[in-house]
Amino acid sequence: MKGIILAGGSGTRLYPLTKSISKQIIPIYDKPMIYYPLSVLLNAGIKEILIISTPNDINTYKTLLGDGSKIGVKIYYKIQPSPDGLAQAFIIGEEFIGNDSVCLVLGDNVFYGKSFENKLQSVADYVDKNDKSVVFGYKVSDPARYGVIEFDNGNKVISIEEKPSKPKSNFAVVGLYFYTNEVVKIAKTIKPSKRGELEITSVNEEFLNLQKLHVNILDNDTTWLDTGTFNSLLEASQFVKTIQKRNSEMVACIEEIAFKKDFITSEKLLETADEYSNNEYGKYLKKLLISK
Ligand code: G1P
Repeated sequence: MKGIILAGGSGTRLYPLTKSISKQIIPIYDKPMIYYPLSVLLNAGIKEILIISTPNDINTYKTLLGDGSKIGVKIYYKIQPSPDGLAQAFIIGEEFIGNDSVCLVLGDNVFYGKSFENKLQSVADYVDKNDKSVVFGYKVSDPARYGVIEFDNGNKVISIEEKPSKPKSNFAVVGLYFYTNEVVKIAKTIKPSKRGELEITSVNEEFLNLQKLHVNILDNDTTWLDTGTFNSLLEASQFVKTIQKRNSEMVACIEEIAFKKDFITSEKLLETADEYSNNEYGKYLKKLLISK
């Protein structure tokens, strides 16, 4: 399975914060935001990753993550010339995806939870073995801001609507999607929505119509954080800080995940630890080497 991180968009809701820099590069406590979705792909065992961003911002990500060798993966980059919708990722990424299945994670989605992390690899395997795509539902208080799932009396998913004015449930579709290769074909056939975008929800609706969509409801142990407002951004940073202090374990430390998954050797980890030796991040990486 391949992975795509979509780190585009104009970020106008966070102006002036994001007037000159990409939203997905701004910090959530001690790391750039994109580390969090990137950690999701690593935890799913994905080692070939495409980052899609705007013509203005793509180089920022190249500087940050390079070719991926520091975390033992291959990272590729492509431009989305204008923000024409999330589903465009599969058209832009067609060549990269090739004949594989693909996981798309939105560059501004932050997840936390051990059971969540542990199930990602099996979700990737499920998609490959069952010819079914998987999306996740999460109970929120403000569903109208998201893709919303409708269930029938038997809890069967019967529809998914994008930002409905009258949401049919409190379950939002999170920004993490595991698709079979068919997604490329589907992305090419969907029509732009009223706001002129190729909606990811249209892709999900199509998989649902084909009876090839599994909706996995995330449990209470999983936290899905909002990063779309000034307050939620600050709260996300505070959340990560609190968890890290309490557990003495970093959240979304990409080098740690890569090391524990044997994507990188001790020597490679030491290189980054030395580069960051002036701060707590570097010290944490050094400690991992001692404790293994
Ligand atoms: C997008 C999707 C929406 C999904 C959300 C998750 O919305 O269109 O279906 O629920 O991501 O973060 P956006 O955040 O781009 O408004």
